[in-house]
Amino acid sequence: MDLHSTAGKLAHLEDRRDEAVQVGSTGRAAEKRRAEGKLSARERIERLLDEGSFVELDALAKHRSTAFGLERNRVPGDGVITGYGTIDGRNVCVFAQDFTFLGGSLGEVYGEKICKVMDLAVKTGSPIIGINEGAGARIQEGVVSLGLYGEIFRRNVHASGVIPQISLIMGACAGGHVYSPALTDFTVMVDQTSHMFVTGPEVIKTVTGEDVTFEELGGGLTHNTKSGNAHYLAHDEDDALEYVKALLSYLPQNNLDEPLVFDEEADLEVNDVDLALDTLVPDSANQPYDMRNVIESLLDDGDFLEVQALFAPNIIIGFGRVEGRPVGVVANQPMQFAGTLDINASEKAARFVRTCDAFNIPVLTLVDVPGFLPGTDQEWNGIIRRGAKLLYAYAEATVPLITVITRKAYGGAYDVMGSKHLGADLNLAWPTAQIAVMGAQGAVNILYRKELAAADDPDELRAKLVTEYEDTLANPYQAAERGYVDAVIAPRETRREIVRSLRLLRGKREGLPPKKHGNIPL
Ligand code: HXC
Repeated sequence: MDLHSTAGKLAHLEDRRDEAVQVGSTGRAAEKRRAEGKLSARERIERLLDEGSFVELDALAKHRSTAFGLERNRVPGDGVITGYGTIDGRNVCVFAQDFTFLGGSLGEVYGEKICKVMDLAVKTGSPIIGINEGAGARIQEGVVSLGLYGEIFRRNVHASGVIPQISLIMGACAGGHVYSPALTDFTVMVDQTSHMFVTGPEVIKTVTGEDVTFEELGGGLTHNTKSGNAHYLAHDEDDALEYVKALLSYLPQNNLDEPLVFDEEADLEVNDVDLALDTLVPDSANQPYDMRNVIESLLDDGDFLEVQALFAPNIIIGFGRVEGRPVGVVANQPMQFAGTLDINASEKAARFVRTCDAFNIPVLTLVDVPGFLPGTDQEWNGIIRRGAKLLYAYAEATVPLITVITRKAYGGAYDVMGSKHLGADLNLAWPTAQIAVMGAQGAVNILYRKELAAADDPDELRAKLVTEYEDTLANPYQAAERGYVDAVIAPRETRREIVRSLRLLRGKREGLPPKKHGNIPL
């Protein structure tokens, strides 16, 4: 090859490009991964993006470190692939980490590449998707690696609320590799093959003596059910990539952009699905029903993309469309712990309300909540401070807020769940709603303790007082008299009223007092 001729230079370029593309797909580490059913970093990008749309950046970048034999170990790309492309025709920026090179660990050039593509995403108002798999800071590069992590974290924070940021965890992510995902809007994990931890099982064993497996400590199931760090548990890598695409379909490109809207007009006539809501709520307030039925009946084609389905299932969050426009849904689930609010449910919903607010997505709240979960565990772990996050999130939100009380709205939980007083725009209640300080049994036991103790037949007296309480206080009409709910409607009318109010609220304008930033209880 004559490098002094144009033809030779072109051929040389092809060779270099080929070499860069081959990284991560050949060799011992690549074969091991293939045997484990894992895709390569490049394959993941190709499956995520529209076919042929990927444009790579910095494919030829190499690290400049010479420590601990690194001078002999330089590959084009330095272990991370960055660039941009499209998903369903919409621009996205992307990076994918390559575990086959130094365990996907983050060094200076690797970090610089991620920073560069993040900057590009913010400048162009494009969502950024990170496909993560790596062993944390590249030990050989020392503090430079830690510095680059810091640069990435700062960019994550500055991009927060400006562009959607989504993280896929596609293998082991240790140390610094977990904090960038934690700062993004959504984190998707793959069952059995992805793990996240700050310190691994070996260090834990040394320091605390605890024996724990990788899977128990930081597997997809753990982070989806216990820690709440993940938002979806995919059954394989393709499922994870599909979920990310579905999420993006509900999000705008950035905070100043319109979301993807399908032009369709809702039929306001009551249909069979609407009618079924009239018989959904059982006569007994202690009997549960599935709030998912309500959610699906209100959304276009019943399509609901649930988020964090396995964490705090007593509250349901997720996206759908009404008349072709995205909405975020927050709903108590009476099927789980009677729909009570606990720490996990409060934080899950608060974060989601803020995500919707940041990206101009209206929030539809469905309420059936008997109150906050009592107990020392909750109190000592900070239900006051952590439950307050949900109050904060609703009160701060300026997107259209519509709330429907289907049954119980008791005590503090009434206030928290998108009440009028926190700033909801339209509050509706079904005739089955019980809006009160507490349930009838509890109220009667407190108010009539002495009378019940002295009664010949306490059960008879209690039953009489409970009925009296339910007739006077546990209904939607006190709230309606004061305008705390704007209307009491039949369940079958709910979809129609939501469609109409969302049409009105498209023109909503609301701001908060000027300030540097609020101080949400963390
Ligand atoms: C450089 C590393 C590395 C690292 C692993 N490798 N970790 N190289 N820096 N941090 C190399 C290994 O030497 C090996 O090289 C290859 O990557 C694959 O590693 P294995 O251990 O063989 O892989 P596996 O058995 O799959 O285990 C994966 C792992 C484990 C669980 C991630 O590698 C691990 O625990 N690594 C250390 C994690 C860690 O402590 N990182 C630093 C955290 S501190 P060869 O040549 O043999 O293929 C940190 C601070 C940031 O990140 C703080 C910001 C807030």
